[in-house]
Amino acid sequence: MAKLTIPELKSRKGRGSLVMLTAYDYPTAKLAAEAGVDVLLVGDSLGMVVLGYDSTVPVSLEEVLHHTKAARRGAPEVHLVADLPFLADATPERALAAAERLVKEGGADSVKLEGAKLEAVRALVSAGVPVLGHVGLTPQTAGMLGGYKVQGKTPAAAKKLLEDALALEAAGVWGVVLEMVPVPLAARVTEQLSVPTIGIGAGAATDGQVLVFHDLIGVFDRFKPKFVRRYLEGGALIRDAIAAYAADVRSGAFPADEHGYAMDESALEGLYG
Ligand code: KIV
Ligand code: NA
Repeated sequence: MAKLTIPELKSRKGRGSLVMLTAYDYPTAKLAAEAGVDVLLVGDSLGMVVLGYDSTVPVSLEEVLHHTKAARRGAPEVHLVADLPFLADATPERALAAAERLVKEGGADSVKLEGAKLEAVRALVSAGVPVLGHVGLTPQTAGMLGGYKVQGKTPAAAKKLLEDALALEAAGVWGVVLEMVPVPLAARVTEQLSVPTIGIGAGAATDGQVLVFHDLIGVFDRFKPKFVRRYLEGGALIRDAIAAYAADVRSGAFPADEHGYAMDESALEGLYG
């Protein structure tokens, strides 16, 4: 499968078919590529699901870069988006500097940033960096939004969300992630935009979906958002596998003969013991 270009991604508008998934390392990116995922995201959710932070705020550019390189090595043929971590997009200059590292060192194809930071988006796009937008619940500023809550429920909030998405499109993004947006509003935004929307907790009317890998496989259990579907109870499977290993070591069942290396024992003659 060849890597999707920006025109190809844009042409997926209106078919509800874009499949995006987060990946933060080599094996996950490789498996997702083999499973036919269209777009991989090195999200700053990395901070919560892999690094154990309480939010995405502490995530550094170095951390996103490190994991972007790993994901890129696992999926050289998949369009790879890297998140600009909190404050890396606070000015157009900072956004350009961060994108320079994520694209040139990390191998990212696009960067994603939260909210309607239009000057940063215009600077990136005019410099030739493809940008994915992200509106609705924006976890880096969840505190200001009153927590991890559905966004756009009042007339004013719905209008603002639609206007932000339209402004991002005008600034040149190739698509917009809609996070925790009520189903009817996500449908309306999807209708109004000519670039694809990619939903997470935004219903089925968006042009694509994104999930966090660790939510999908059931290994993140600090909380389970309503919008997650677990396709695997991976936490239980992995815990049981590790417990079985521990039990086998303690009982002597592992390692077995077939796990050992033989040698000609005459080579041991003359050794003390
Ligand atoms: O960091 C992330 O995983 C994200 C997705 C939830 C869109 O931004
Ligand atoms: Na993110």
